Amino acid sequence: MTRHVRTAIFPVAGLGTRFLPATKATPKELLPVLDTPLIQYAVDEARHAGIERMIFVSHPSKAAIERHVMEDARLTRELRARGKENAAEALSEAALCPIEDDVRFVMQNEPKGLGHAVGCAKDHVLPGPVAVILPDDLILGPVGCLTEMVKAYEAGKAGHLVATMEVSEDRVHRYGVLSVTGKDGPIVLADGMVEKPKAEDAPSRQAVVGRYILDASIFEALETQTSGAGGEIQLTDAIARGATSLGLGGFQFSGTRFDCGSKAGMLEATLELAMEDPDCLAVLKERGLVEQRPAVAA
Ligand code: UTP
Repeated sequence: MTRHVRTAIFPVAGLGTRFLPATKATPKELLPVLDTPLIQYAVDEARHAGIERMIFVSHPSKAAIERHVMEDARLTRELRARGKENAAEALSEAALCPIEDDVRFVMQNEPKGLGHAVGCAKDHVLPGPVAVILPDDLILGPVGCLTEMVKAYEAGKAGHLVATMEVSEDRVHRYGVLSVTGKDGPIVLADGMVEKPKAEDAPSRQAVVGRYILDASIFEALETQTSGAGGEIQLTDAIARGATSLGLGGFQFSGTRFDCGSKAGMLEATLELAMEDPDCLAVLKERGLVEQRPAVAA
């Protein structure tokens, strides 16, 4: 059985309630960190990881996501006609092309949970394991998280590999948490996972964040998955069911993860990237939010 990861699924059909009213008319996945929407970071990460087919599981009310990720020939022409060659070039490089790229949009008409959203992609995936990327988990670092995970997955044995990070005890209730049995380099071995446990019931402090590489049997597991926490079909529950037979690993990625589905996480990500932008950095310095270094005498 191949361990080559060819497909990435982007579940983008959720309601984004934590970010209302911003998400009333604008999909959460299009909220920007500085000038780049979250979905763009996710698409770039998948591209760098060598993904061949991208499947967006969206909702009819969120058509703007498709408008953003796909190329807009009219807009690029218009920019070129106005002499804005650089902007046109940047837009067309970032966008997906309906002819050259293998892209599909599938609708999840009712947001019944992340597991249900992933299941909607079943008939569209290429053979082999699939990657799942949650765009509201932004992971920044010198190497893309999915690139690292694909490498680790292809070299390893676990059927399901999920991105994990250690969180403090008072935060475990916000995450899926691994039931840890051992360690193998950057991979935490586990025999199960629990969605949003109370601190006292949490099997460990290894929290799962929004990157997964899943054995193709996940689709069968999802078909028979009953609703779990919050009345939703949970991806976590379907992963946990295959943990012992397929093997489950938690990959400790090297980058920094920002929970951009929350205001605080979005602010943190924005500040992080603002430090790399000279104009924004000047504002942060003026406001005393970062240290003003004394000018070095010539
Ligand atoms: P979240 O639970 O973070 O997103 O799901 P949400 O439900 O939209 O946000 P809140 O909690 O109400 O604020 C993570 C990802 O899974 C997608 C979301 O769009 C997001 O990208 N999702 C979630 C679906 O595609 N379908 C669902 O039924 C639920």
